Amino acid sequence: MNIGSTRKDYKNQKLIFDDINDPLIKFHQWYTDAKKKVSEPNAFALSTSNQNTPSSRMMLLKEYGETFVFYTNNSSKKASDISQNKNASILFWWKEIHRQIRIDGKLKKIDKKRVEKYFYSRPIESQIGALISDQSKPIKSYNLLIDKYLATIKKYKNKKIPFPKNWIGIELMPKKIEFWQGGEFRVHQRLEFNKRGKQWNQKILSP
Ligand SMILES: Cc1cc2nc3c(=O)[nH]c(=O)nc-3n(C[C@H](O)[C@H](O)[C@H](O)COP(=O)(O)O)c2cc1C
Repeated sequence: MNIGSTRKDYKNQKLIFDDINDPLIKFHQWYTDAKKKVSEPNAFALSTSNQNTPSSRMMLLKEYGETFVFYTNNSSKKASDISQNKNASILFWWKEIHRQIRIDGKLKKIDKKRVEKYFYSRPIESQIGALISDQSKPIKSYNLLIDKYLATIKKYKNKKIPFPKNWIGIELMPKKIEFWQGGEFRVHQRLEFNKRGKQWNQKILSP
């Protein structure tokens, strides 16, 4: 099926270029804007690569500042990719405001205490969901997983859920951050920041 005529025009007159030299401050400003108009602004695509084979999946960002933090399962494909190759890329697409942010950097596992703190801040149902999942491993049937979920809910009624041994937190330490704003007639705005030592340098890129 040819879908070449599917096209949406972006209208944005405001320039994104300003005197902010720190892309982490800019990220905060853009995230604050996105929260007002985007339904799940913390959803992002995480791309990892293992033996020159890339792989992407959606994730939810749980913290940002100097680094970008998310939580997952150590038995997953992404975790095994990361153990081979720490380089990764994350991507936000906020279609309601025609903005994209690309962040490249290295990943690092975060401290277990911090992971536990986040784990126990989640709703009980999500804690159980994490406990019963051997993420990305094949299962015999979905019904068996549901049975396991229900049995585990019953087992831990009014009890503290044991911390799942495979639950991990990961942070991306950014080296490159690009801000993209959709513009009229496909004349988009792009602003790229690169980290050299502690310093961020910026340049405007052609769309
Ligand atoms: C919007 C959205 C958010 C998600 N957030 C997470 C998340 O924060 N952590 C996670 O482990 N999986 C999350 N997932 C599931 C992943 O996309 C993926 O299916 C799972 O982590 C297994 O990936 P892997 O086998 O490539 O490691 C999310 C999926 C969607 C669609």
